[in-house]
Amino acid sequence: MYLPYMMKPLIISIKLSSSKSSLVIFLFSFLLLGDHSRARITLPEGVTVPAVIAFGDSIVDQGANNNLKTVVKANFPPYGQDFPDQMPTGRFTNNKTPADMIAEELGIKEILPAYLDPSIDNKEYLTGVSFASGGSGYDPQTPKIVDVLSFDDQLKQFREYIEKLKGMVGEEKTQFILENSLFLVVAGSDDLANTYFTIGIRKLEYDVPSYAGLMASSASNFLQDIYKLGARRIAVFGAPPIGCVPSQRTLGGGGLRACAEEYNQAAQIYNSKLQPVTQYLNSTLAQSRIVYIDIYNPLLDIIENPLQYGIEVVDKGCCGTGNIEVAILCNKLLPTCPDDSKYLFWDSYHPTNKGYTILVNEVLGKYVDDFF
Ligand SMILES: *[C@@H]1O[C@H](CO)[C@@H](O)[C@H](O)[C@H]1NC(C)=O
Repeated sequence: MYLPYMMKPLIISIKLSSSKSSLVIFLFSFLLLGDHSRARITLPEGVTVPAVIAFGDSIVDQGANNNLKTVVKANFPPYGQDFPDQMPTGRFTNNKTPADMIAEELGIKEILPAYLDPSIDNKEYLTGVSFASGGSGYDPQTPKIVDVLSFDDQLKQFREYIEKLKGMVGEEKTQFILENSLFLVVAGSDDLANTYFTIGIRKLEYDVPSYAGLMASSASNFLQDIYKLGARRIAVFGAPPIGCVPSQRTLGGGGLRACAEEYNQAAQIYNSKLQPVTQYLNSTLAQSRIVYIDIYNPLLDIIENPLQYGIEVVDKGCCGTGNIEVAILCNKLLPTCPDDSKYLFWDSYHPTNKGYTILVNEVLGKYVDDFF
């Protein structure tokens, strides 16, 4: 076995002192594992995940909308109130997003920056960025309505990012990074909740199954596009039970603010079309691992059994009345709940850090092996 130069004194000290051997073994494994010793999940031997790269909507928007002319923003208090330095960064929650959490669990880094962050250090490109833009969706109308970045815009930036990577580390290493990184594709809920149900512009042309078909085929095109550019390990998130998020209870859940069943059914219909699309691509695109991630059932289980997860409030967000406030409507003029860790939702649409932590742990536990 080849031992790097720096290991040799450690081997000698094992021989010198058996009483200190456990400390030495600890140091030894620390050195061997290097940066990845921070990983909280165990990857199969020999597997490297150099970066996390995210596309989609507000669930994994790391601040892309901050400098756009849109109302879909979160770069002001109380957003970010539990983030390091209580910084509102444009993340649509009180702390980190699932994109940060997944990068952290994989031992890559603690904060996944937005590609559009004007102060980004180029070194960050090597370990991943997010292209996601809050309010976006698979239906090209969805980002247009709120002036945010479409999937086409995100793809264009991804191409630009690849060129930057090539400039930094060359063609071959760039390809290695793309082929081995974990790609997160999170969208669909804004298409259904905003474009289809709330604004209603698509209702004239499409019933729910045909609209869900449009979404799934747009998702399919996008997945093929990033595959062609080098992505192989791709996590594709299904729609959550959108009828149960606080704002949709208010808009479609009647006087008692029940879950809006029609919205939940639409999410299920969409998921039933997205899942076979991912399976088909996974089996036809060589070397790909394209995995559908069910978020519907884990989130619904928290909503139905909150106490099992240490959560007390699931039908209101922590910000303001909790019934409707999101983005610019959730701002520093409003009070927040005293303890956001008792709430599943931070605003009327997005989970709290507590909610995201539960979901990310479940999802990683269930799906991580499917990527390798
Ligand atoms: C994806 O395809 C591979 C074979 O290429 C297979 O081993 C794996 O189980 C598939 N994954 C899913 C989630 O269908």
